[in-house]
Amino acid sequence: MAMESLGVLLLHPMNAYLEQELDSRFRLFRFWDSPPDGRAEFLRANSSAIRAVVGNAGYNADAALIDALPSLEIVASFSVGIDRVDLPKCRERGIRVTNTPDVLTDDVADLAVGLAIAALRKIPQADRYVRAGLWKAKGDYTLTTRFSGKRVGIIGLGRIGLAIATRVEAFDCPVNYYQRTKKDCPSYTYYPSVVELAANSDILVVACPLNEQTRHIVNREVIEALVPKGLLINIGRGPHVDEPELVSALVEGRLGGAGLDVFEDEPNVPEALFALDNVVLVPHVGSGTHETRQAMADLVLGNLEAHVLKKPLLTPVV
Ligand code: DGY
Repeated sequence: MAMESLGVLLLHPMNAYLEQELDSRFRLFRFWDSPPDGRAEFLRANSSAIRAVVGNAGYNADAALIDALPSLEIVASFSVGIDRVDLPKCRERGIRVTNTPDVLTDDVADLAVGLAIAALRKIPQADRYVRAGLWKAKGDYTLTTRFSGKRVGIIGLGRIGLAIATRVEAFDCPVNYYQRTKKDCPSYTYYPSVVELAANSDILVVACPLNEQTRHIVNREVIEALVPKGLLINIGRGPHVDEPELVSALVEGRLGGAGLDVFEDEPNVPEALFALDNVVLVPHVGSGTHETRQAMADLVLGNLEAHVLKKPLLTPVV
């Protein structure tokens, strides 16, 4: 089968290089070309041609989309997390699913460490202090908190969690972790529950996939267990954390601070956080470097080509 005959539905303008390559190698359908109230009609009109969907962390092949595409064969996600893909439905329909693991691990781990240092050392706040002319007007900046040597508790010691662990080891941080099963990592301390992990860590980092077991894995009890000066870092998914509980703990000073790349209802961020001096907020940019986004795009393209050529998929999930 020729590559150009694979109809690929791109759900969102997520990456210019990816879009251009999809357009030149396959038959590309841009979902946003049709107005929101014309999407159902657009899918009906093209349902026999669309055999592949490319989504990402924000928009993906949910049950309604899959149901509207009877010829769908593969969902190639431009993300490692595939929590927005209806996996049971894909399995049931024999639809293949791929993601983009490994290529983004370093960037996401770098950001986790960067957020922790930025939050404790108040780097963005200090930058604002200089820009506002306050150094000159008011003198030295306030003292901050050390990062080196802090106990780092990682929820999920998968690829990204491990990459965070090796990075923080270089800062002399003892590494603790939680996941369902203990790993063969004798230099890291395993805790069988997230509450125990939080109680024994200064910095808690969410690095696990989002699924029904991990939704709100950081709840009120976990936040209460994290020492009062504790820091929460989330580079996973917003719904890993009970956001209203996090916001009230931060506002009421029950938690030391937070470094957040992800939020429950992106791009909406609770405005109460904007006024707080102990949080660092970034707009879901963990994998957002030129290098990594290109590598992710190449994996999406490689998976689609392998599918057409009936070769083994590069990074199959289903
Ligand atoms: C992922 O890959 O899942 C990230 O969250 C999006 O870049």
